[in-house]
Amino acid sequence: MSNVNLSVDVGGLKLKNPILLASGTIGYGNEIAEFTDLSKLGGIVTKSLSLKPRKGNPPQRIVETPSGMLNAIGLANVGVEAFINEKIPFLKTLDSALICNIAASSIEEYVECVKILTSIDTIKAFEINVSCPNVKEGGLEFGNNLAAVGKITEQSRLATDKPIIIKLSPNVSRISDFAKVVKENGGNAVSAINTLVGTAFDINTCKPKIKNITGGLSGPAIKPVALAKVLEIKRNVDIPIIGIGGLMNWQDAAEMMIVGASAFQLGTVNFINPNAGIEILNGLINYCEQKSIKNISELTGSFQI
Ligand SMILES: Cc1cc2nc3c(=O)[nH]c(=O)nc-3n(C[C@H](O)[C@H](O)[C@H](O)COP(=O)(O)O)c2cc1C
Repeated sequence: MSNVNLSVDVGGLKLKNPILLASGTIGYGNEIAEFTDLSKLGGIVTKSLSLKPRKGNPPQRIVETPSGMLNAIGLANVGVEAFINEKIPFLKTLDSALICNIAASSIEEYVECVKILTSIDTIKAFEINVSCPNVKEGGLEFGNNLAAVGKITEQSRLATDKPIIIKLSPNVSRISDFAKVVKENGGNAVSAINTLVGTAFDINTCKPKIKNITGGLSGPAIKPVALAKVLEIKRNVDIPIIGIGGLMNWQDAAEMMIVGASAFQLGTVNFINPNAGIEILNGLINYCEQKSIKNISELTGSFQI
């Protein structure tokens, strides 16, 4: 047993350690459970859930890129009702925090999803994905619209007593402005970052490699961007941050905490090594022991500039 206190509090969400698995990269937990011990992690985040099931985009939906991947899954998911009936029974058996990620095409749909799910004890917090297309507001993405992000935060805050975490888009010029709006409207924390818009073309057919033409870039290629966005939020807004983007090993995770993250999520790495979370946990414990750090939370925002 380690002497390091690994527990963290992210805006009222209590985690036994800062390691979370990111939305969309582990399904509903069951897809990865035979390859790692999910109960040793701080928590897991579900694939984005919408009120009704979604099929997502037609294939090809994923392509590998240098140091990363592009995906355009299109929020394929089972919908809230099937999630409760078919996925919660397994998730209940885990000894780690369950965070439900919600996606919607209207503010009302976000609220409705949160209201339905909030009565389930196993769910400890909501992560609101504001980077999906906004059907009702003229095709703009919610994540690019300060007023919309404020309204979604305010309305989902009213729909539950559990922590509300808003997952921010990096495809904006000043991410800290969005974190500020989240704080002003009662959000408990922000997650940063979601994927960066990118594309890839086949030079023989001259066609996009992804049917949707553009996709979201993730993996090691985006780590420097994610670190810069987290640092920008940390230096400008007093709100807990969950750092996400390109984390592959414990050194990356330590770096993410140092620039300001209270906890962090692992995404693309799960496709390469589904046990990465546990390995990163062990690496961080050794690092803290060697540096005589008693509480892992001391790392958060410990940068020297
Ligand atoms: C295949 C795939 C599917 C994803 N699906 C979702 C999703 O449904 N909702 C969401 O908020 N983020 C989704 N993400 C974004 C990740 O949660 C994460 O923010 C992003 O991949 C950056 O982290 P990484 O570089 O560690 O993968 C997805 C990412 C990938 C690679």
